[in-house]
Amino acid sequence: MQTVVLAAGRGTRMRPLTDRRPKPMLPVADRPLVAHTVGAAVEAGADRIVLVVGYESDPLREYFGREYRGVPVEYAVQEERAGTADAVRAGAHLLEDEPFAVLNGDALFDQAGLDELYADGPAVASVRVDDPTQYGVLDVDRGSVSGIVEKPADPPSDLINAGAYCFPAEARRWLDVPESERGERELTDVLERTIDRADVRPVPLSRWLDVGRPWELLEANEWKVAEVAERTPTRAGEVSEDATLRGPVAVEDGAEVREGVTLEGPVLVRSGATVGPNAYVRGASLIGPDANVGHAVEIKNSVLMREAAVNHLSYVGDSILGRDSNFGAGTVVANLRHDDEPVKLTVKGERVSTGRRKLGVVVADGVKTGIDTNLNAGVSLSTGATTAPGESVTRDR
Ligand code: G1P
Repeated sequence: MQTVVLAAGRGTRMRPLTDRRPKPMLPVADRPLVAHTVGAAVEAGADRIVLVVGYESDPLREYFGREYRGVPVEYAVQEERAGTADAVRAGAHLLEDEPFAVLNGDALFDQAGLDELYADGPAVASVRVDDPTQYGVLDVDRGSVSGIVEKPADPPSDLINAGAYCFPAEARRWLDVPESERGERELTDVLERTIDRADVRPVPLSRWLDVGRPWELLEANEWKVAEVAERTPTRAGEVSEDATLRGPVAVEDGAEVREGVTLEGPVLVRSGATVGPNAYVRGASLIGPDANVGHAVEIKNSVLMREAAVNHLSYVGDSILGRDSNFGAGTVVANLRHDDEPVKLTVKGERVSTGRRKLGVVVADGVKTGIDTNLNAGVSLSTGATTAPGESVTRDR
């Protein structure tokens, strides 16, 4: 089935990690976030991908090229971010007069659920959540979707639209919906039109993750690093005989793990990265391409992007380190509050609860910390920020 993947968003809630790249290109295990979505679509039976791009689209075009796993990829540009229906409309001219699927490009879907969605449309993927107010909420009557309400203050159920749809061919003509209250043209209004004319099934997903905020990038890696490490050869790279590897661990070809290192999976060490000597990396952790983890460094449940370096005597827990960031010797991250309350983080200028008891820091590309820097839980450092030697950082910079 022809499949539209929505990947035009700016990812403002993901700042500062999206200062220089689009959210769909953020690393999740061995590939960009959106490649997991596209890969799952191909696996489910997508025979053509229309990727709707917008903000910073070059890396997306470079990554996918003209085909992905043998399936042709075409691009449509959404000039303005005017909503999900507008995004599909931007790619509609590339669609044949046949049923089509639409997937949010910033979500992870379980494969079995997506397979079912593709097998028997019209359908919408659905999942139960604790707080449905931030989503499209579904009403179901005798096994069919009977209504959908977008971001309701008073949700009719806890069953939400997970952002994966299978529309009938005619829906291409129903894309021109009026602006919603939040000023966007919503795909959920297209779904509403579909419900009026066809039987739409809610397909339950057993696992789903909407990746919008920095800690959700950690959660995405917790999910996918485990999967990828399970199916990738453990010792394709150079691994010292004096290293200890436990659980699902994959050291890619071109990576090096030196003596005295303990890797406790799920851990993925990407090509060109070096770990050790004498380092301790606990899962779920991603040590990105050409990253460096040096002597007496402990990394726990963290993502180190390409060329990130933590070279000496440091602790990094539940954190994200951007490209080419560098932690000076003795940089230590706090990842827990003494009152045991969930750690807060700044999202779109506001401090919000992450719901996580353990969360360290979010560090953008090119950040450099001075030696002996202490970073408090929930601090975020923007692109190129620096800290002085011996500093204790308790606020965003
Ligand atoms: C979109 C849909 C919403 C759905 C959500 C899933 O919301 O409009 O119905 O529940 O994706 O992530 P948006 O991400 O545009 O706010």
